[in-house]
Amino acid sequence: MNSSDVKATLSFSDGSPSMDLPLYKGSIGPDVIDIRKLYGQTGKFTYDPGFLSTASCNSTITYIDGDKGELLYRGYPIEQLAENCDFLETCHLLLYGDLPDAAQKLDFTARVSSHTMVHEQMQFFLRGFRRDAHPMAIMTGLVGALSAFYHDSTDINNPVHREIAAIRLIAKMPTLVAMAYKYTQGQPYMYPKNNLSYAANFMHMMFANPCEEYVQNDVLVRAMDRIFILHADHEQNASTSTVRLCGSSGTNPFAAIAAGVACLWGPAHGGANEAALNMLGDIQKMGGVEKIGEFIKQVKDKNSTVKLMGFGHRVYKNYDPRAKLMRETCHEVLGALGLHDDPLFKLAMALEKIALEDDYFVSRKLYPNVDFYSGIVQRAIGIPVQLFTAIFALARTVGWIAQLNEMIGDPEYKIGRPRQLYVGAQQRSVKPVGQR
Ligand code: SDX
Repeated sequence: MNSSDVKATLSFSDGSPSMDLPLYKGSIGPDVIDIRKLYGQTGKFTYDPGFLSTASCNSTITYIDGDKGELLYRGYPIEQLAENCDFLETCHLLLYGDLPDAAQKLDFTARVSSHTMVHEQMQFFLRGFRRDAHPMAIMTGLVGALSAFYHDSTDINNPVHREIAAIRLIAKMPTLVAMAYKYTQGQPYMYPKNNLSYAANFMHMMFANPCEEYVQNDVLVRAMDRIFILHADHEQNASTSTVRLCGSSGTNPFAAIAAGVACLWGPAHGGANEAALNMLGDIQKMGGVEKIGEFIKQVKDKNSTVKLMGFGHRVYKNYDPRAKLMRETCHEVLGALGLHDDPLFKLAMALEKIALEDDYFVSRKLYPNVDFYSGIVQRAIGIPVQLFTAIFALARTVGWIAQLNEMIGDPEYKIGRPRQLYVGAQQRSVKPVGQR
C-alpha cells in the first residue's frame, strides 16, 4: 500500500476534536481512508451495513472496475484469460501470482491430478442424505467433512499445510460435485480419470457410467472450462468475505471453504443462476415471450419481491464482462447442440433486450450478470438446475483459497470482529416471573 500525502480530515460540528486520517492509493482503483485509529481517538465507529463503502483488506489478486465493466485476475483481463488459458493455468495464476510456463503447468497439473480421489469413507456421508437433497446442502456437508480426513494439513498458519490443502480442495471439488450429482440420480459414482483434462474429467465423472464408453464433446468441455475460469474469483464478494472472516479465527482451510459454500448458496449471490433459470421457467409457464411485459411489471412493483434474477450487481454498474463471455459460450454450445431454437434461450434473449431498453433497469444500472447466461449454458450441457451453484462453488474454490492464503500470509492480519450501532433496550433489571 502506498500512502499519499493527501490526508482526510474528519471534523465534528459538535466541537469534538477533528482528526487526520491517512489516505492510501492502490495500484489501480479507489483510494482508501485508513480509519483504524478512529475508535481509539474518537470513541466512534464508522457505519456501513452491506459494506458498500468499505475496503476490508488490501489484495493483489482480483481487480474489478464496475463502471468500466473490467475484471482482472492478477492484472490479466478476464477476456484474454478466457480466450488463451485453461482453468488450471488460471488456478496457478490466482494461487501463485502468475501464469505457469510449460514446465510449471505440467507440474501443477500433475499435483492436482494426484489428489482427485476422495477417501472411500466420503461416500458414507452421502448415504445420510435423502436422494432429493439439494446439492448445495450436500456440498456444505462434504467440504466441511474433508477436515476430518486431513489432520496432517489443517494448521492454516503452516504454509506447507496451506499449499497441500489448496491442491486437495481444487482437485477434489469436481469429484465431490459429481458424487453429489450421481447420488441424487441413483447412479454409481465414477472415479476420476487422471489422463483427462480438469474439465473433461469433471464431465466424465458427471455423465459417464460403467456400462458404456463416454464420448466427450470438446465444445462442451471447453464451455465447462470457461465457466470455471469466469467464476474463479471476484474480489471481496459475500462468499469470499465469509471465507476470510471464517479463516481469520485460525480455523482449518476446509472449514473456511465450507463457510464460503454455504454463503454462495444464497439466491442473491451464487444461487442466482439457478434462480435465473427458474425465473425463465416461470415466464415460460405464464406464456413465454408475450408475457415478459407482465413479468417486468411485477419486478417494478415495489410491493412485490420479484427480482430479475441474473440482473444487477453490487459492483458492476455496467455490463458484467463475464456475462459477455458467457453469452458467447451460450451461442457456441447451443450451436454445437443444435439448440439455437431453444425456447428458454430465445426467451432469455427477448428478456435481456427488453430489460436493456427499459428505463427502470437502465436507470438502476441493472445489466445481465454472469449468472444470467451461465444457467442457460449449463442447462444445455445437461447439468440439472439445482447443481448450478455447486459448479459455481467448484470454480470459486480456487479464488476462496487464494484470498484466504493472502490474508493468512499478511503479517498484519487479525481476527475479524466488526462492531455495531446498538439501538436496543437500555439496561434494566430482571423482575421475578410473577411481576413480569
Ligand atoms: C453474484 O459480489 C459479487 O461479485 C458476486 C458475484 C461473484 O462473482 O461473486 O458476481 C456473483 O452474486 C452475481 C449477482 C447475482 N445475483 C442476482 O442476479 C440476483 C438479482 N440481483 C439482485 O439481487 C441485486 O442486483 C444484487 C444483490 C446482485 C445487488 O444488489 P445491490 O447492489 O445491493 O443493489 P440494490 O439491492 O441496492 O438495488 C438497487 C436498486 C433497488 O431498487 P430501488 O430501491 O432503487 O427502487 O435496484 C433494484 C433494487 O430493488 N434491483 C433490482 C435488481 N437488483 C437490484 N430490481 C429488479 N431486479 C434485480 N435483479
